[in-house]
Amino acid sequence: WPIATLTLRVNGQAHRLAMDTRTTLLDALRDHLGLTGAKPGCNQGACGACTVLIDGKRMNACLTLAVATQGQEITTIEGLAEGEALHPMQQAFIDHDAFQCGYCTPGQIISAVACIREGHAGSAEEIREFMSGNLCRCGAYPNIVKAVQDVAA
Ligand code: FES
Repeated sequence: WPIATLTLRVNGQAHRLAMDTRTTLLDALRDHLGLTGAKPGCNQGACGACTVLIDGKRMNACLTLAVATQGQEITTIEGLAEGEALHPMQQAFIDHDAFQCGYCTPGQIISAVACIREGHAGSAEEIREFMSGNLCRCGAYPNIVKAVQDVAA
């Protein structure tokens, strides 16, 4: 299979990487860049554990080919904090105990950031609807909604 040299812009930095053209963005982030925040869950677009922002829009990195994201700005959970200061949504997840095992948390937080940015945090119902693609096996949903409402307020 063809190997290509791709330029990926991740969290404000450009990286030139050689990889199989079939590599998903999720595998490129995790295996080529060592950014393991986005998690593999279902690998078929059903769980949201792999959620990242591409040009500000949330996407399932498991369904996106890395080659297709060249020229776009990818933001992962690792890119949200400003130095030592957590992103307000990261802090809100801590403040509201919005996780248990934490496996889904990076994807939840990325979706939560998109939820507010895209104006879907007007009510608990609206937040639940927008976040419905991010599954949590521990059932932390009520506190996730509280965290989003806190940041949206
Ligand atoms: Fe991508 Fe489940 S791993 S949606």
